[in-house]
Amino acid sequence: MEKKMMMMILLPFLLVSVSVCSTAASTFNNVSTISFDEGYVPLFGDFNLLRAPDGNSVRLVLDRYTGSGFISSSLYNHGLFSAKIKLPSDYTAGVVVAFYTSNGDVFEKNHDELDFEFLGNIDGKPWRFQTNVYGNGSTNRGREERYNLWFDPTRDYHRYSILWTAKHIIFYVDDVPIREVVRSEEMGGDYPAKPMALYATIWDASTWATQGGKYKVDYKYAPFVSEFKDLVLHGCAVDPIQQVSSSGCSEKEADLESADYAVITPDRRTAMSNFRQKYMYYSYCYDTLRYSTPPPECVIVPEEKIRFKDTGRLKFSSGHGTHHRRSKRRSRVSKVAAQNQAKEI
Ligand SMILES: *[C@@H]1O[C@H](CO)[C@@H](O)[C@H](O)[C@H]1NC(C)=O
Ligand SMILES: *[C@@H]1O[C@H](CO)[C@@H](O)[C@H](O)[C@H]1NC(C)=O
Repeated sequence: MEKKMMMMILLPFLLVSVSVCSTAASTFNNVSTISFDEGYVPLFGDFNLLRAPDGNSVRLVLDRYTGSGFISSSLYNHGLFSAKIKLPSDYTAGVVVAFYTSNGDVFEKNHDELDFEFLGNIDGKPWRFQTNVYGNGSTNRGREERYNLWFDPTRDYHRYSILWTAKHIIFYVDDVPIREVVRSEEMGGDYPAKPMALYATIWDASTWATQGGKYKVDYKYAPFVSEFKDLVLHGCAVDPIQQVSSSGCSEKEADLESADYAVITPDRRTAMSNFRQKYMYYSYCYDTLRYSTPPPECVIVPEEKIRFKDTGRLKFSSGHGTHHRRSKRRSRVSKVAAQNQAKEI
């Protein structure tokens, strides 16, 4: 009963469509895409990785036997990692779709990682997602932010992008930069600095993904299918063993830094700030119980800060948060998930 009431209160709120970004959808229009076989190989659950005949799209499936994933064939020393993604619909509690860069296979103890993690939900409740940044094994210093989306990510494809340069990291949803991390000296090794590969996975994260594990994957609704297309890998591919940049790297770095999407124009900054005001519901930067001094890259925005409690969660959060437990459980669901260090927040 209570839950139903909550939904009735929540739904209209969530359905209010707020225009986060009014600029034309053009940021990534000119970016060249590559086929699956040009850039990627299966990572696990090969039977559940379904390539389209044209090679430009791929489906990752989770069923009761396994999830699935793919990985870029190369590691990149900085890059733009991007894909159009459509998430599974209906009941998806416990399901996680992750789109991230990592070098955890090469550096087990001090890996770097940049994450988009999409968290499934019970029927009628929207997907949420989080971003995270790890550098040089900083897994005990999580830098999670969690958000809602301004659209239903199961209905259409939307572009999700991670830009990583020597100067900054930008997470994009479509044309909206939703998070920027500017490299600062104080961040030290916590700023990702070693070549990374791109990973995309779908897996069972029943223990934490939806309301702290309250709702598990229900295989009655399987298979859970996520679709990826228009894949983009820009950057300097480096030898994973030697990790030496090939000679073309400085040129590619320059290309990356001078690209349109590497610039947060005033319009984009406005869109970013609107997004964060309306859709961000957790930020480590405002979680003073966790970090009495915010980590050095945090830009404390007074209008944002006022919305958050000491826990970094929304003050007037409707439902989520109130019954959350804090836990640092790590998912060991798959080889990849193990590196994901996903923490419940
Ligand atoms: C996109 O490409 C077209 C043709 O190559 C070019 O004319 C246009 O200026 C480019 N737009 C951007 C935003 O780079
Ligand atoms: C990264 O971690 C390694 C191993 O813990 C350490 O030796 C190295 O100094 C660190 N690098 C940076 C830039 O902090």
